[in-house]
Amino acid sequence: MIDIAAVRADTPGTAFVAHFNNAGASLMPRPVLETITGYLNEESLFGGYETADAFDADLEAVYGTLARLIGADPSEIALADSATRAWDLAFTAMRFAEGDRILTTTSEYASNVIAFLQVAERTGLIVDVVPDRPTGEIDVDALDSMIDDRVRLIAINHVPTNGGLVNPAAEVGRVSNAHGVPYLLDACQSVGQMPIDVGEIGCDLLSTTSRKFLRGPRGAGFLYVSPAMLDQLDPAVLDLHGARWEARDRYEMRADARRFELWERSPALVLGVGRAAAYAMDIGLKAIWERVSMLGEKLRMALSAEGGVTVRDIGTVRGAIVTFTVDGHEAGAVKAALHAQSINVSTVTPYSARFDMEARGLPNLVRASVHYFNSEDEIDRLVAAVTAL
Ligand SMILES: Cc1ncc(COP(=O)(O)O)c(C=O)c1O
Repeated sequence: MIDIAAVRADTPGTAFVAHFNNAGASLMPRPVLETITGYLNEESLFGGYETADAFDADLEAVYGTLARLIGADPSEIALADSATRAWDLAFTAMRFAEGDRILTTTSEYASNVIAFLQVAERTGLIVDVVPDRPTGEIDVDALDSMIDDRVRLIAINHVPTNGGLVNPAAEVGRVSNAHGVPYLLDACQSVGQMPIDVGEIGCDLLSTTSRKFLRGPRGAGFLYVSPAMLDQLDPAVLDLHGARWEARDRYEMRADARRFELWERSPALVLGVGRAAAYAMDIGLKAIWERVSMLGEKLRMALSAEGGVTVRDIGTVRGAIVTFTVDGHEAGAVKAALHAQSINVSTVTPYSARFDMEARGLPNLVRASVHYFNSEDEIDRLVAAVTAL
């Protein structure tokens, strides 16, 4: 059981806002904030490079912490400055030819689809969207039947930006492994929300962020690369950290996933994401998942009980993200009205998940995303504020 009073006391922001924008950026807990500010303070007093040297062991330990969070090995982790950057590090390291196919899912995130379309324009790559089950998640049998020898990649999200849906990532992993097709999982919205184990999921590549359910700082994310995948990828950008200039006409790439990193980074943020991952593991990802899925369902039921409010979430398994519409009130206006009462929610538009939102004929949605530190009182406040619109 999570000690809600203790985690709230550890989260300074809970004194100011009822924060339901954890799928945007969550509230950092105090230890994460202090790790970052403490490090920046050291930099200002002793110098950026000198401080990095002094914290070398702590910076190195972050790889181990992030690896533990997702059941990987430290050598399989590359740090990045966002989830999209992490995802793109993998995707832009793949080579596609005309007629090659990518299989993706209806709820795929806009930035990923834009990258597919860009490569499709350049190469003649074909992007195929796997149908959903009637319940909303990717239809794994359909996926299996769509695979042929031109399929080069399966790229899906675990949890989309626009709803509570949780895709059956491990079932997709079994199909990908059975056919030997690389599997890139966008876990931006799932890491920190639920237990994740790359071995159980069977993905080759996984990207995620720091700032959402992990409760770390903005401007950080990371990529997992399986050992088997590492040598099949050709990083689009290499610098003197990802590779070594061994002779006038020769360089050697690093042996681990850090070949995808650049030398320059913010060590304060690196330590911040590491601290956030340790904090989540101390609380326990299973306990976090139990609470966020309980709170998400409670919010859905309370909103559904109100006339004029329609909950828009789909999927057999549903997590922390709750989306809804309010009759007669555009999503942006709902967000603004709630913000004026110190209740933070966000909105989603077809620009972030067009395949899905067009298929379901959805307008802009209000997105209220809970986290374990939210209290049931805050949920009551949110529902009352929506009802009073
Ligand atoms: C499902 C999903 N994937 C990827 C991203 C992109 O993350 P970032 O903004 O860190 O690049 C988001 C952001 O909201 C997301 O919801």
